[in-house]
Amino acid sequence: MPEPRRFPPGFLWGTATAAHQVEGGNQQNQWAQWERQPGRIRAGDTAGDACGWWRSASRDLALAAELGTNAHRLSVEWSRIEPADGRFDAAAIGRYRELLGELRGLGLRPMVTLHHFTHPLWFEARGAWAAADAVERFTRFVNYTVAALCDLCDLWVTINEPTIFALQGYLLGVWPPGRRAPAEAVATIAALLRAHAAAADAIHRIDGNLQVGLAHHIRLMDPASRRPLDRLLAALHDRVLNLALLDALRTGHLALPYGVGQRITGLRGSCDFVGVNYYTRDHVAFDSRAPRAFFARRFVPPGAPVSAATHDGTPYGEVYPQGVARAIAMAARVGLPLYLTELGMPDADDVQRPAMLLATLGAVHRMIAAGHDVRGVFWWTLVDNFEWAEGWQLPFGLIALDRASGARRVRRSGALYAAVARANALPATGERGAE
Ligand code: FCB
Repeated sequence: MPEPRRFPPGFLWGTATAAHQVEGGNQQNQWAQWERQPGRIRAGDTAGDACGWWRSASRDLALAAELGTNAHRLSVEWSRIEPADGRFDAAAIGRYRELLGELRGLGLRPMVTLHHFTHPLWFEARGAWAAADAVERFTRFVNYTVAALCDLCDLWVTINEPTIFALQGYLLGVWPPGRRAPAEAVATIAALLRAHAAAADAIHRIDGNLQVGLAHHIRLMDPASRRPLDRLLAALHDRVLNLALLDALRTGHLALPYGVGQRITGLRGSCDFVGVNYYTRDHVAFDSRAPRAFFARRFVPPGAPVSAATHDGTPYGEVYPQGVARAIAMAARVGLPLYLTELGMPDADDVQRPAMLLATLGAVHRMIAAGHDVRGVFWWTLVDNFEWAEGWQLPFGLIALDRASGARRVRRSGALYAAVARANALPATGERGAE
């Protein structure tokens, strides 16, 4: 009889969300302002009432528990907790205490992200991360928030995807603040790493038992051919998007292209774990007509399985679940325990996701069996939500949301995830439905 593939005892089976994408009613951050500008968001969507979590998340959290999960990653909204520079709102903290209490009551261990793409308009108006005192401002917010919530949560993510935040907002200009200035993108990443290090130090001072990490987006880069220029460009993109940040965490110094070896105070040793967000890979080919993309064209090769289309008709990405093993191996160079803080794909009809989910978890299991210290998985996402510039058009949820009626429906992948989470194991390879 083939044996089920067991995960380590205490493995965290979670789902992940972010404040602005699910809470609803957030009007005081830079994303809400961006959404009001015509043409910024696909189909003119806004986050609006989102999934209504600020009023009540009870129904969705109860579903998370019914799915057999034992953890949930969410983020707090800085613009609610500190609505004006230096003014903190006890009622907002009270609401987050209620949410975390609810999670714990359902047997779900919370992981809280302190900055998941959004921050207050007042912080943006002061120059956001380019302001001389940005790190100080962020650390003040972190101190207040963590001190107020740390009896309910011991897993903290300082910043979600510094590289994606900086490149989308300051290089490609497709997210707020819509800048196209490479030097600003680089400076933003450096500032975010300084903010992370200072926040991690603040959290550890509040309570030495709290576990701190950041969530790094890894998008695999493969050369489109064996030609030297394609290989060079793939390696370059891999360094910019994936490796430079991991090396900075490992060494405490800024690696190219984010810097030339400058030390960031407190960065080395700042993390207890590394969070990895993995979705897909790109193929990379040299393209002399694309200076803005560092002379590369990134694409999905014809014939490869792809997920849903984004606003410009290109697919969200190749369906490449086995790539998570490479992402784990890459992040392992930091030498710390790992959490997969996001994994997922958009698939409204849930046609591809079930097999993709099992293949992803199978690859995670293989890496753990090979000795990698992966402590948990947080699936993106629990329930369909506001997908940034893609608006409401890319449903990532294990649970489908009907926005008109507010109805929720557990997708087949949700039921599969539930079975794996409950058993803390995947069915043996070769069993029906295994992969
Ligand atoms: C990640 C973000 C998350 C979500 C997924 C699909 O880059 O962290 O908020 O939008 O992509």
